Amino acid sequence: MTDFAAWSRAIQTRAENVLAALLPDTGIAPEKLHAAMRYVCLGGGKRVRPMLAYAAGEAVGGDPTRIDFAAAAVELIHVYSLTHDDLPCMDDDDLRRGKPTCHVAYDEATALLVGDALQSLAFEALAHPAAATAADVQVEMLRLLARASGSRGMAGGQAVDLAATGRALDLAELEFMHIHKTGALIQAAVLLGALAGGALETTTRERLERYARCIGLAFQVMDDVLDAETDTATLGKTAGKDAAQGKATYLTLMNVKEARAYAHELLNDALEAIQPFGAAGQRLAEIARFIVERSY
Ligand code: IPE
Ligand code: IPE
Ligand code: MG
Ligand code: MG
Ligand code: MG
Repeated sequence: MTDFAAWSRAIQTRAENVLAALLPDTGIAPEKLHAAMRYVCLGGGKRVRPMLAYAAGEAVGGDPTRIDFAAAAVELIHVYSLTHDDLPCMDDDDLRRGKPTCHVAYDEATALLVGDALQSLAFEALAHPAAATAADVQVEMLRLLARASGSRGMAGGQAVDLAATGRALDLAELEFMHIHKTGALIQAAVLLGALAGGALETTTRERLERYARCIGLAFQVMDDVLDAETDTATLGKTAGKDAAQGKATYLTLMNVKEARAYAHELLNDALEAIQPFGAAGQRLAEIARFIVERSY
């Protein structure tokens, strides 16, 4: 059993290779759009969502080769969401994953189309015949990703984020926003990774859902903390943007120490949820710790 650092590097390489194979080649027309898609997807990012998909598959004894499509599909939706999140009409950021954002390196219209095209590619990947063991499970997986990406998932959370800018939210409103804009895709990564191995028993599914709910929320709590505490070079994106833009974050309701303590509470809850998996849940536990203890 390799350590977490080695395992996560192996997953990063695997995800990179799967994405590189799924993305159209830059020589295929329209060349500029395909080059921009590869620019945003390849060569960066922590790949936390692919890691979660493979780890969830491991927890339920799934075959890793089946998980490639689900892992890539969630990462493609995630990268689309980042590309749009950085646009001038949203967070107006010029740095992402240590590189100029898509609309800076290319142009706004291209960044918009990159997001559109990555979203379609995600569903194309998840509809691949090798992405699931049975057609009914695959339809469920497609539905799950659609819901997690849409107005009752990530896109809905982003709408709340924009509407809340410059306005104070209470804790319940803030959690609603975080659970949607970030938690939904994290939960999709966990469930799709597990479902790629076959249908899930109700108790298994409930355990994974509880784990994912906790770490999804903890992920955005820590994203808010890191925005305030870490430097731009470490983050690979502009630090201090939330305060500068008047974003509603955990730090508008509590101080850094309290936010970190809250993330640890969520971590403990997540670890408790997956305890019944025993050793098979080791990677899920390690990712949960990484999410809360990370510095980037
Ligand atoms: C950043 O996500 C945006 C949020 C949803 C909070 P990540 O921190 O996973 O970004 P990458 O994929 O590593 O660049
Ligand atoms: C973005 O949240 C969430 C999505 C992209 C869906 P943030 O706006 O906080 O993400 P960063 O900090 O720019 O990565
Ligand atoms: Mg944002
Ligand atoms: Mg942003
Ligand atoms: Mg942020």
